[in-house]
Amino acid sequence: MRGQAGKPLCREEVVTAMDHRRLIPAAILAAALAAVGSAPSAQAANPCASKAANPCAAKAANPCAAKPMNPCAAKPANPCAAKAAGMPEVLRPKGTKLATGDHKQLVKQGEALFKDTKLSTNGMSCNSCHADLGAFQPTFAQPYPHQVAMANDQAGISKIALDEMIQLCMVVPMEAKPLKWESKELAALAAYTGELQKQYRKQAAANPCAAKPANPCAPKAANPCAAKPANPCAAKKW
Ligand code: HEC
Repeated sequence: MRGQAGKPLCREEVVTAMDHRRLIPAAILAAALAAVGSAPSAQAANPCASKAANPCAAKAANPCAAKPMNPCAAKPANPCAAKAAGMPEVLRPKGTKLATGDHKQLVKQGEALFKDTKLSTNGMSCNSCHADLGAFQPTFAQPYPHQVAMANDQAGISKIALDEMIQLCMVVPMEAKPLKWESKELAALAAYTGELQKQYRKQAAANPCAAKPANPCAPKAANPCAAKPANPCAAKKW
């Protein structure tokens, strides 16, 4: 389906536009649709997210401003930003211990799991973001528990353990359920990620300037979170 300005619309936009068509002057609607249709990618360019590009956001006299008219504005476009504050399911229950096993075997199993897209519901593997130590920030070099920006910003967890951070990545970017706390899988991923941490430390020590620019959740073209049809305005063609 296409809007009056000839640009593709997201479904909710269309539905809402139709619901409200008697209430919204056609000129404003056309402007809104034109702005919505021009999103190339990611958050920065998402007109639903950007105040400047959203004609409904700016003016007090605008009849659209008072209503929850743009459903796209309310939804987080980025799965990395998807969950609201507080995520008790990623915090290890007291008394729970990770599975144990031969370290080398755990690392091997962990590496396979790390590259396995079946762990997620959205086609990603851990490796989609963390290949070549990508997406890790300098905090990764610190002993656990430590602060991780994503955990702090999105779940309000100021210090997080390695296994909990894996669970957080399972729930947020991977859009899956947390692994069972006692499972071999979690122990294996923790073992493998622990090895990555050692590599990261070596790399950081060798060349502190080489830190990857990569927060894949940041609004960039290279954002793997932006590639999926998570943002109904950005991705769908009608
Ligand atoms: C869509 C991208 C994405 C995917 C997929 C993803 N992660 Fe992450 N991961 C991130 C981001 C972003 C951070 C946060 C970096 C920060 O804020 O410092 C992060 C942080 C981490 C950290 C903590 C780093 C630190 O500083 O202590 C670990 C460990 C981790 N991820 C493991 C995993 C594992 C294991 C998987 C798969 C189950 C996974 N990640 C899947 C993006 C991703």
